[in-house]
Amino acid sequence: MADLHLMVDRAAGGLAGQIAREVREAVRSGRLVPGVRLPATRDLARDLGLSRGVVVEAYEQLVAEGVLESRTGAGTRVAAGAGRQAAPGRPGDERESCWPHYGHRPTSPDLGLFPRQAWLAAVRHVLATLPNDALDYGDPGGVPALRRELAAYLGRVRAADASADDVVVVTGVAQGLSLVVQALARDRGRGIVLAVEDPTSARQLPLLRRAGADIVPVPVDSEGIVVGALPGDADAVVVTPAHQYPTGVVLSPARRAALVDWAARTGALVLEDDYDAEFRFDRDPVGCLQGLAPDRVVLAGSVSKALAPGLRLGWIAAPPRVARAVRLARGEFDLGSPVIDQYVLAHLIDGGAYDRHLRRMRREYRRRRDALVGALAEDLPWMNVRGISAGLHLYAEVDDGGDPSGLAEAARAVGLSAEVVTSAHGSPGLVLGFARLPAHRVAEAVRALAGNVEGDVRG
Ligand SMILES: Cc1ncc(COP(=O)(O)O)c(C=O)c1O
Repeated sequence: MADLHLMVDRAAGGLAGQIAREVREAVRSGRLVPGVRLPATRDLARDLGLSRGVVVEAYEQLVAEGVLESRTGAGTRVAAGAGRQAAPGRPGDERESCWPHYGHRPTSPDLGLFPRQAWLAAVRHVLATLPNDALDYGDPGGVPALRRELAAYLGRVRAADASADDVVVVTGVAQGLSLVVQALARDRGRGIVLAVEDPTSARQLPLLRRAGADIVPVPVDSEGIVVGALPGDADAVVVTPAHQYPTGVVLSPARRAALVDWAARTGALVLEDDYDAEFRFDRDPVGCLQGLAPDRVVLAGSVSKALAPGLRLGWIAAPPRVARAVRLARGEFDLGSPVIDQYVLAHLIDGGAYDRHLRRMRREYRRRRDALVGALAEDLPWMNVRGISAGLHLYAEVDDGGDPSGLAEAARAVGLSAEVVTSAHGSPGLVLGFARLPAHRVAEAVRALAGNVEGDVRG
């Protein structure tokens, strides 16, 4: 039910007319949109300090005009077709019009499999047990219960080396990396030189630049980032060692050692984007780099692939000085993340529900990926799939360095999520997100894709 702000001048008289005029104007200007339920006449009369009969009279007048509609049991609502907008917007509709990059990405999970029941049970538990004071402004670095759970969880599943004090809760990898870059730039008193993998996630670049980074692309080969090509003056490097985005390769043991060595030698910071490390299908994940060099590496992760990106809930595990700077930044910038979701996640991890969900999702995504790899080999054998069996996306290049743009469009038309990736150092590739396509529909989708593109792409 809408809370309604109306200006009524009691001394002026004609009170029902004044209320009707105010509501009419609110509908006309779009402040009240079709479908919105108005306060009950009794409640509005009490809020305005008027008799109920005055409000009833105003509502009846507006119903007669077709501005409002009144149905028994459903209250009084703004009529469909009234005012500026033709129909109430569905959540999310507005994003198409204002920002084309919002919405599903090739690395987004299957949101139909979000563990609604487990989340709901955890919310109930948290609301039933949380002391009132816990709902106050919290530690801007995150509630201690979640930081403790995350430190233990990251140690257990990622071989991270971090205490609860080294963990800062953020809204996701994106914010974690931005705040670290910002803190470095502030510390240096200048923009920082930031090496990034090439190819990389292009979406990250504007965000990193805005935080104060001067970006230097460094090539990636079958062993991950070419450490020997890192610029000597880099202040930091962003890497995806567990599953390079987008190519899907793993940073080799030799390169891991070389990267840690490089950071120790130059004093640079390694920013480890651990975006999809939960999803390894045919092998155990390699431990994170942070565990090898906790004083030089910042590990950044989130629930965006494991649960849902819309939660905007993530973490960094960082050397104490960096963790302190990021926590301070959140304290000065926005006072931290919403606390109820933090307690909910802590409860899910503590009770084992998070691990159970991940095990289930791992099986499901593995089936989908296997089906896609098999179908591509069958119907589009000139596409070369690279990278390990992991994550929610697959990377492929067209034989002879062909242009995959037509393929991306055709893939989207058959229900796959697809993006072309360009690189300063190599030929373009194609990222295919398979998380949303059930295994039993993959073969048919790829056959349709093959039918549409054969000939087009390879020229
Ligand atoms: C490689 C990579 N890193 C980071 C992110 C951002 O993740 P988060 O939602 O945790 O901010 C994404 C999201 O698509 C991604 O693909």
